[in-house]
Amino acid sequence: MDKIKKLIKSHPPIAQLSSNHLLAIEGMNKNEILSLIERADYFADLETSQIKKFLEGYVVLNVFFENSTRTRVSFEVAGKRLGADVINISVNTSSIKKGESLLDTANTLSAMKPDLLIVRHPESGAPKLFSEYLDCSIVNAGDGRHEHPTQALLDALTIRRKLGEIEGLKISICGDIANSRVARSNIHLLTTLGAQVKCVAPPTLMPKNLMSLGVECFDNLKEGIKDCNVIMLLRLQNERMSGTETPSQREYFHYYGLDKKKLDLANNKAVIMHPGPMNRGVEIASSLADDTQRSLIKTQVEMGVAIRMATLEALHNKKYNK
Ligand code: CP
Repeated sequence: MDKIKKLIKSHPPIAQLSSNHLLAIEGMNKNEILSLIERADYFADLETSQIKKFLEGYVVLNVFFENSTRTRVSFEVAGKRLGADVINISVNTSSIKKGESLLDTANTLSAMKPDLLIVRHPESGAPKLFSEYLDCSIVNAGDGRHEHPTQALLDALTIRRKLGEIEGLKISICGDIANSRVARSNIHLLTTLGAQVKCVAPPTLMPKNLMSLGVECFDNLKEGIKDCNVIMLLRLQNERMSGTETPSQREYFHYYGLDKKKLDLANNKAVIMHPGPMNRGVEIASSLADDTQRSLIKTQVEMGVAIRMATLEALHNKKYNK
């Protein structure tokens, strides 16, 4: 029996999703989340030469209406590692620039019969809208202030590989919570997996009623990170602000930026995470960002490819092998 359990652990099955799309962590159950994380954990340890290219002929369109480095490239790498045909659509050179509506663009892309669209958009709900009108699967690669589900999944995988089970961990999410889709996805995922989540933000960047999601809220970083095992820092999303929400960057760093002195208040083995892109000297001291003992920022990027492989594989399997 132990042998079988060991075998399942080292070769976890393809992740099982109840939907043809991955639009949000909210609404996903613990088993779906864990099946993606465990499958990605397996992919993360495989040599590229060991990966079977069984997504041959599976057409994936990367449709990004907002800038991205990590998410766009890692979906492309993930798809190509599994043998999929991945095509990048650059909005700067697309007909959106000539005034085409979102739905007309969606219908045009749909006519090319892709299997999957990976959509990033500045408006919350745009990927869901695509999923309601198109025949193919949709993955939300970050929509406005709403959700960024694969980011939360890769964050959870990163934590698990470093600290073990997420249940019972104290995790502080600090910074611009109000404008952060990463925070929202992580809150849903980490509370579903049983972590104790604390959110830290200046009052102007703390959403109202956040406590209804099962988290504790702090406007003092030193109190919010006390004894925690993981500190997740968030970028100030200036592009989503009206301009009055934050003091100067220098003042922000003084109160909410993480430096070594503040880090000493957390658990003595606490790890630091940041979804990127990060602003050194604003939300994090540059020396901490590069501290290989405490910072998991590079590992997060590495795990991004594994999580996206597990996601593409699961959606392919849902379509062709159900
Ligand atoms: N974390 C993240 O979404 O980064 P990108 O904007 O570079 O994709």
